[in-house]
Amino acid sequence: MATNMKISVAGRIKDESFAKVSFKGKNEEGCVIVEGKNRTLEIKLPEKINWRQATLIPRQIVFFAKKNGIKKLALDWTAVKDLKLGEESAVAEIFAVNFEMANYEFVAYKETPKEGWKFIEEILIIADGKAEIEKSIKRGQLIGKEINSCRDISNTPSGEMTPEVLAKNAQDAAKGTGIKVSVLGEGDMKKMKMEAVLAVGKGSRQKPRFIVMEYNGEKKGKPVVLIGKGVTFDSGGISIKPADGMPEMIMDMSGGASVIHTVVLAAKLGIKKRVIGLIPAVENMPSGESYRPGDIIRSMSGKTIEVENTDAEGRIILADANTYAEKYEPELVVNVATLTGAAVVALGERASAFFTKDDKLKDLISEEGEKSGEYVWQLPLWDEYEAEIKGRNADVCNTRNRANSRYGGSILGAMFIYQFSKNFPSWVHIDIAPRMTATQDEFLSAGATGTPIRLLIRLLEKY
Ligand code: BES
Ligand code: ZN
Ligand code: ZN
Repeated sequence: MATNMKISVAGRIKDESFAKVSFKGKNEEGCVIVEGKNRTLEIKLPEKINWRQATLIPRQIVFFAKKNGIKKLALDWTAVKDLKLGEESAVAEIFAVNFEMANYEFVAYKETPKEGWKFIEEILIIADGKAEIEKSIKRGQLIGKEINSCRDISNTPSGEMTPEVLAKNAQDAAKGTGIKVSVLGEGDMKKMKMEAVLAVGKGSRQKPRFIVMEYNGEKKGKPVVLIGKGVTFDSGGISIKPADGMPEMIMDMSGGASVIHTVVLAAKLGIKKRVIGLIPAVENMPSGESYRPGDIIRSMSGKTIEVENTDAEGRIILADANTYAEKYEPELVVNVATLTGAAVVALGERASAFFTKDDKLKDLISEEGEKSGEYVWQLPLWDEYEAEIKGRNADVCNTRNRANSRYGGSILGAMFIYQFSKNFPSWVHIDIAPRMTATQDEFLSAGATGTPIRLLIRLLEKY
């Protein structure tokens, strides 16, 4: 749930109701002290701290306070400055983003405890010369809150978060921002020959939608198009998944949710760019109406797709979404998807995989990933892999076309989407499956993480 935490900057502590946070010592003996209530939080600070690790400091402070029932904190900013993390405004922003992220819990379906929820109510930053810090904190809070709204959508169960409701969420989130939201229904998609999206959605009673969000932060110029996988539930379809882990697939629209809230955030931050968000939204279900293994789909591009496995559905809907994106003549297209379990096998739960043929873009993404605290790592997209997704009776196949169909799963998923991205001057696909849910020791509540909004927003600003 998005909380209403107040973060403000003041010259001195307001009153005794605030627990004081300060830092003591460096390196191994270093610790953060929450004073006033006689409690000490020990955070071991490494010799040289990087931006990714810096995100954990504010998160740990919030977790510690929540655990101890502390609702108001005062943070000594000179002590934070002494940690020499980096430029003051950047540190202030990172702190605000992560205070917000750590204060989030998905409690919408839980009974409120008698004593109420333990959310932090107020954080006071004690600093002089506050204008610059205040600005960064405002910005950080805006980012953090948008991430939390994204997490709400992802965490909401699929029985409620249908394609139709996802589209409604996009419309609601965009209210008052000037973003134009259009929602295409089945009839519209039929007219446009979006047979790939329609095929994946066929098995469900919940009909597919195609969500289009247009933000014009400048009048002219080629836009950046963000495209998010919006599978509101992925049962696997006829190639049904095992029961273990299937409940997590309520979050298979996390790419779509992140695109919705990145476009909204771009507008709220007043980014001077044209940004388009596209979300093909479907539910992947088994039924008498479902698409089948062995089916051949004629995608919107004209390319035909051989369906080896109905569980490799994300790449199929993205094929049409990427073709649709061509009409915008984008300068850059970004795919965001919980695409493969293989990405989780490759990288564990700590970093998303990304794929691009653009080396300059690769450097930018690696750098901004690092600075935002969003962990990403590049995997290869060499032409040699292309042979492995050629179709037997169609142009492309949605899984590996030879023995050991799971080999290189994440790369071949990316290679498949690349087949529909060759007309773009620059393109990247981010497989966020590894970062879909929070893992241990990262001081985020269980469930969706809201990735990769922090990275995308920086990418939009820097590209
Ligand atoms: N949504 C899943 C991928 C996924 C797995 C996301 C775990 C998050 C956590 C995707 O649609 C899928 O099922 N992919 C298959 C592809 C395979 C059939 C080629 C996979 O990864 O097993
Ligand atoms: Zn999926
Ligand atoms: Zn799947």
